[in-house]
Amino acid sequence: MTAKNMDELVALCKRRGFIFQSSEIYGGIQGVYDYGPLGVELKNNIKKSWWASIVYDRDDVEGLDASILTHPEVLNYSGHEETFTDPLVDCKSCGERFRADQVPDYCKEEDLTEPRQFNLMFKTNVGPIEDASSFAYLRPETAQQIFVNFKNVVDSTSRVPPFGIAQIGKAFRNEITPRNFIFRVREFEQMELEYFVKPGSDESWHKYWVDKRLNWWADQGVKSEKLKLLEVEKKDLSHYSKATFDIMYDFPHGLEELEGIANRTDFDLGSHSKNQKDFNIKAKVQENKNSTTKLAIQDLENNEWFIPYVIEPSAGVERGVLAILNEAYTSEEENKRTLLKLKPHLSPIKAAVIPLKRNNSDLVNTANNVKSELQSLGLGRVMVENTGNIGKNYRRHDEIGTPLCVTIDFETLENQTVTVRDRDTMKQEKVSLSEIANYYSRYFK
Ligand code: GAP
Repeated sequence: MTAKNMDELVALCKRRGFIFQSSEIYGGIQGVYDYGPLGVELKNNIKKSWWASIVYDRDDVEGLDASILTHPEVLNYSGHEETFTDPLVDCKSCGERFRADQVPDYCKEEDLTEPRQFNLMFKTNVGPIEDASSFAYLRPETAQQIFVNFKNVVDSTSRVPPFGIAQIGKAFRNEITPRNFIFRVREFEQMELEYFVKPGSDESWHKYWVDKRLNWWADQGVKSEKLKLLEVEKKDLSHYSKATFDIMYDFPHGLEELEGIANRTDFDLGSHSKNQKDFNIKAKVQENKNSTTKLAIQDLENNEWFIPYVIEPSAGVERGVLAILNEAYTSEEENKRTLLKLKPHLSPIKAAVIPLKRNNSDLVNTANNVKSELQSLGLGRVMVENTGNIGKNYRRHDEIGTPLCVTIDFETLENQTVTVRDRDTMKQEKVSLSEIANYYSRYFK
């Protein structure tokens, strides 16, 4: 199981239409990728699964979809303007720029400039006047928009801690050296939960969320033995964090971070609050002269106002796609096939309906009817494969992870049965046409 190396995965993604280099016909943009017909389905399925486990399956989390364009003050008080930087060096010999800890071997140390800090945030102008007063940032994390909407959500839902706000969306970072396919890119998506708790209960909630998230990755087909929990050393913690656990995955290029789960303390709500002195803020925050709102909650037991602590599980969708594809990648010498053993709920195509002969209108009409029936169950994309080459269709659907192929053959017309083939076992069984919808629903339960 798993791909031999990153190249094998990249080739499959391009060949089958999962992932393409962005603007490829003009030479591409480094660190930016497009998701093709299968990639968009896989990504959507991962996001749906995350949203179900974080929002729908619980009753203490609300959703949010906030803007990407972000007011500069948000990222000033969050600390990003000052600290969201990487050390940059120039090589005087080859003229290239690198992150100081990622200089390739071909550059000699004596040719490198002293490192200087490079801010990773993208800026753009809002409105028709391009000057210093009209700029906004493209958000570098989805989290900050959750913090600045805290009062809106609390006022409209009457939530009290412990409760969370979840968001999935794009984030942008001008990485100095994007690399390893979709692992480190400049435009990506995050699935972030900010879970607000009473100070003092933060450490036990932190542990709770680490366990939850490890289990979720296992449910997506990422084997537990390929995940490693790493407690980030104090010296490496982000400016907002009291403690962070990284869920590390053994990617084709090495063991690297898949998701981070941080205890952000009262740093963020404290930073964005007005009247900060009224609260016993524990984190070191910059004095806020611009916020119009206190981001606090009244404790109903003693009527005192307090600023909640935040536990934040933050996962990258792209890294999830890479880990899940890598885990699913299987090469079977004995059967001369490559297949993606994706968990069925993540498969881009749930079932392929294949008429045995492309020019036989009875077979094709029956296939179309079966497709419509299965599609109407709302479990994901079902497609008709009307190419007439059953062997090729099985191979293609093995390689893109379709769990079921439903073949419509002459027996279907005679005795109303279809042949269902299982991707992983290649076993085939006859199912009656009137039962196929039930069979399919049961399979995906
Ligand atoms: N709000 C906290 C935060 O953004 P982070 O560790 O910088 O923390 C969280 O990012 C997750 O976002 C990472 O674990 C990773 O999965 C993903 N991520 C971060 N930078 C990325 C990049 N340049 N390309 C792809 N994914 C990235």
